[in-house]
Amino acid sequence: MKDFILAGPERAIRNAWRSLRRWRNSSCGYNVLGISSTGHGASFALASSAHGVRALNLDRFLRKKYAVLLSQAEHDEIRAGKTNFGKTTRYLLSEGVHDLPPISVFETAWRSFLDALLRGTGLGPGDIDLVVASESHFAVNCFQLGRKLGRYFPNAEIVTNIEHHAIHRFQAFLSSPFDEAAVLTLDNCGEPLGRLGGSPLAITLSSVQNAAFAIHREHTFPESSPGLLYHWFTNYLGFRSGEEGKTMGLSSYGRDSCYRALSPHLEMHDNGAFRFLRHKELQATLSDLGAKPRRPGTSIEPIHGDVARAGQMLLDNIVTNAVTALARLTPSRNLCLAGGVALNSVSNERAFRRSRFQNLYVMPNAGDCGQALGCALYGAHVLRRDRKSRGLLSDSLGPPYTDSEVVAALRAANLEPVVCPDIAASVAGLLAAGFVVGWFQGGSEYGPRALGRRSILADPRPQPMKDYLNCHVKHRESFRPYAPAVLEDKSAEWFDLKGTSPYMLRVVDVRPEKRSTLAAVTHVDGTARVQTVSRYENPLFYDLIRKFENRTGVPVVLNTSFNRAGEPIVETPADAIECFMSTRIDALAIHNFLITKST
Ligand SMILES: [Fe+2]
Repeated sequence: MKDFILAGPERAIRNAWRSLRRWRNSSCGYNVLGISSTGHGASFALASSAHGVRALNLDRFLRKKYAVLLSQAEHDEIRAGKTNFGKTTRYLLSEGVHDLPPISVFETAWRSFLDALLRGTGLGPGDIDLVVASESHFAVNCFQLGRKLGRYFPNAEIVTNIEHHAIHRFQAFLSSPFDEAAVLTLDNCGEPLGRLGGSPLAITLSSVQNAAFAIHREHTFPESSPGLLYHWFTNYLGFRSGEEGKTMGLSSYGRDSCYRALSPHLEMHDNGAFRFLRHKELQATLSDLGAKPRRPGTSIEPIHGDVARAGQMLLDNIVTNAVTALARLTPSRNLCLAGGVALNSVSNERAFRRSRFQNLYVMPNAGDCGQALGCALYGAHVLRRDRKSRGLLSDSLGPPYTDSEVVAALRAANLEPVVCPDIAASVAGLLAAGFVVGWFQGGSEYGPRALGRRSILADPRPQPMKDYLNCHVKHRESFRPYAPAVLEDKSAEWFDLKGTSPYMLRVVDVRPEKRSTLAAVTHVDGTARVQTVSRYENPLFYDLIRKFENRTGVPVVLNTSFNRAGEPIVETPADAIECFMSTRIDALAIHNFLITKST
């Protein structure tokens, strides 16, 4: 096995000593900390032989959407506008990515963030025996984590030199239910790689058996970057980095005119690579088609839907081509996807349906933010050789809260904790009567989709419900659709779905005869980004939907994330209460307590 411990004589001796100590005390188990710190999000994850797996996104903890974690030196260089940015950053800044995300400095934020992740476990920094971290590739000096983390985790072996796309591969496969699979990673880019002459990767095609990967093809940034291409369209439409989902939602409203003009410029290769116009050429072509760049905050015109549709269809073709290329290179019937582009549920579904793969798994936190989990699982499964430490049973990986903490938060907000004997039945009744309910149960979702732990729920039937939520609860653009959560065993009756979609990462057709019934969750093109809910994975949420079905005959609820526009999903009871009180959410179901606005 390759040794990933950082080089350097002092560190090597220290790591050897720690390894020997761990070997002697192997009966004590392990506590692996994964750290994601790239320029597209940050998170910490724990894989522990005693405490299982948990993970927390920095933006939820800080209450700042898209927050990233940088070293003090990196932060200072960016803020000072020094010229020695890395090649990738320089390219991004010159090609339309002008907006920096909220920045948190590692040296001042790490401890409180770690404490939030470890809450209730009794663990502290001294109990971590292995840290696996993805390096930032956002600026020139990188994070230099290897030199710093040893100070913060005195008893830990430090591993920081795993390639960005390798972490995406582990993130995808080690969280999947498969023993072997084809693994496709697609994103904007990884770090500059010396072995590739300084080019970063953007697409990798691989297959895996028992965590041993065979790399079949690698394609580099910027010429074969699907994330960069889609970002150009997103940016042109006046949305910022991280808002690619808005482009996807808007694409359903567009016509084919822009796509027809642009598609001849897309050159796709049998090995999964592609070539397209450069940024300025794309801007000029769109301008010639009458589509001027939209300024943020201005109205959305029909031409913007056409531009979004073009970007989406080009991405569909690129992802389908890569999946098809991978299918030729491996006999596996199982397909795993990760990398930020894998969050595009429309492309996932189209590529999967056009392929010969039988089973699809998309890691729920597929982008860079989810790399902390890939790091932690890699540490536990490969470095600590715990073969059971894989397969994600749920995306509910956030640290849980006790009933006492919920009661304290309610009382702090001058709300009386009213215990509800059957919270599922009560909420089902409220939804059937047309009320909007905030739903807070267990640990938060690690990925960007609310899956029944931090959700706002509503009746999926009335058409006006969508506009009501957009205008009065979520305060977001009117074109954005809402998603259905359906009982897994009833999903085929209502949706054209092959298999399951537990993480809401597949967009499928609502069956034509059901579209008028599911008016609030059927998108303008007859599709829906569906979540299938199983009794096994989330029994309380399943029970709620079943009781809603008993009342209405519809085994579906509208499920959207518990937040307002521009804010991260709520994490703590206090966050949920604050969101509940400041919006037109009618009731809050938090653990077994039901709070209504009228009481
Ligand atoms: Fe990535």
